[in-house]
Amino acid sequence: MVRRYTQLCPVAFGTGAVSTTGEVGKELGLKKVLVVTDENIEQLGHSQKVIDSLTEAGIQTVLFNRCEMDAPDYTVQAGADLAKNEGVDGIIGIGGGSVLDSAKGISVLATNNITVAELLDCSKKMMPVENPPLKIILIPTTSGTGSESTIIAVISDTKNHEKTGTMAPPTFAIVDPELALTMPKEVTVYTGMDAFSHACEALTSIQPNPHSDILCYDSIERITKWLPIAAKDLNNLEARENLALASNNAGIAFNDAMVHLGHATAHSMGAAFHIPHGICCALVTPVMLELTASVYPEKVKKIGEIMGLTINSSDSKEIGLQVADNIRQFMKQLDIPTLKDLEISKEQIGSCTNYVANEGLRFLCPVQVTEEQISELLGQIYDGYQ
Ligand SMILES: [Fe+2]
Repeated sequence: MVRRYTQLCPVAFGTGAVSTTGEVGKELGLKKVLVVTDENIEQLGHSQKVIDSLTEAGIQTVLFNRCEMDAPDYTVQAGADLAKNEGVDGIIGIGGGSVLDSAKGISVLATNNITVAELLDCSKKMMPVENPPLKIILIPTTSGTGSESTIIAVISDTKNHEKTGTMAPPTFAIVDPELALTMPKEVTVYTGMDAFSHACEALTSIQPNPHSDILCYDSIERITKWLPIAAKDLNNLEARENLALASNNAGIAFNDAMVHLGHATAHSMGAAFHIPHGICCALVTPVMLELTASVYPEKVKKIGEIMGLTINSSDSKEIGLQVADNIRQFMKQLDIPTLKDLEISKEQIGSCTNYVANEGLRFLCPVQVTEEQISELLGQIYDGYQ
């Protein structure tokens, strides 16, 4: 079978890379940019580093610091309005996944005479927008989303309580592991498990390719080794470098291979209960791998082996069970909360069935499930990790 794989955008990777933002902006011919971030990142001084680098390169900056968790549509609209009023020719997003996704949405709206509601509607109908987006440089401060190297922007439709989105290719990604040193333990762990789930789902979707497989296995290996180390020693730069690379690699991988049922389910849980995305991803991954082991037994076995498991069985069901159990132990080691800890009942989780059934990503799972099976899977997510 012929598979395509893409190199979406150049990446500047390494400690200190953020100080090259101005240089990159100059290469891209930018004159005046909107720096998109949130208040936390601004307080940590990260956005100022970007502004200083851009200013030094002679590029004018306008700050937009109103991004919020889960990239609500109204913040994307507010950022786009500011970008248009200021007449910027580029967008710089610096922050976690929600900031980077907001920046992507802003880059599309800034060049098109439509509202954010119309943009999200276009995406649902798979209709392209008229004009290409502004040039955009993305700088992650967490190691999980991979958004700096994907075309996808997840945006929250706050009227309909849905996670939806748009497509916006980054022009350039700047990955500086030093920025991740300020992440607290919980964010480190949750975002790390988001990257882990990207790798697991990209390996087991309906459209993996040889390139994405390599990146995914590498990402799983780095996260297994370095996430527990980073969780215990937040200032460990070697751990941060490995996790930043794992996250970026998983992002490049799933930009092609895509994520599937796991993320469809994670999105439903995030939209219904506002649980951080990385926790949702961690909770769904064991169940998702158990399911897809029937199609990809060798791949799921390899995930287990990379994590240090010895699997003697060649039975796909047994492989799925062992690997799922091993991931749950890994999650316990990292203090990932259970749904009970989050005060969410089994019945409440069951109420996500309809959302998952209507989430497009689920069709990229190689095992097509009925609504009844989705309900059972949601029950397994609850029961399997206590
Ligand atoms: Fe994710």
